[in-house]
Amino acid sequence: MIEIRGMGKIYNAGTEAEVVALRDVDLRVDAGEFLAIMGPSGSGKSTLMNMIGCLDRPTTGTCFCDGEDVSRLDAEELADLRLHKIGFVLGLPPAAAAERA
Ligand SMILES: Nc1ncnc2c1ncn2[C@@H]1O[C@H](COP(=O)(O)OP(=O)(O)OP(=O)(O)O)[C@@H](O)[C@H]1O
Ligand SMILES: [Mg+2]
Repeated sequence: MIEIRGMGKIYNAGTEAEVVALRDVDLRVDAGEFLAIMGPSGSGKSTLMNMIGCLDRPTTGTCFCDGEDVSRLDAEELADLRLHKIGFVLGLPPAAAAERA
């Protein structure tokens, strides 16, 4: 369902403020699978989520969503993909999460 190959993300490439946030990430998530991304602050979790959610583009590598290479999509097609296939639930407090479980 989601497949990432060789993904890297460099912010401010070629400048003094260059940050290598992701390096050579491979990941596959099948339909119905649950996944927890864990790591210390600054390890690139949000960066990876932004790539998976098609909110930002990687510097290198590819991301396939339902077999479709996301890097080939233009802005309108990306918006369509986000509208129909991707959802974020942000900052759900533990009590609310327990209620929904
Ligand atoms: N827009 C940006 N411009 C420049 N550097 C960035 C940007 N976003 C993130 N970074 C840098 O990329 C690295 C990874 O950051 P990221 O926010 O993905 O980490 P995180 O694992 O989500 O951290 P936290 O647990 O604090 O949320 C950090 O060094 C961060 O400073
Ligand atoms: Mg974060």
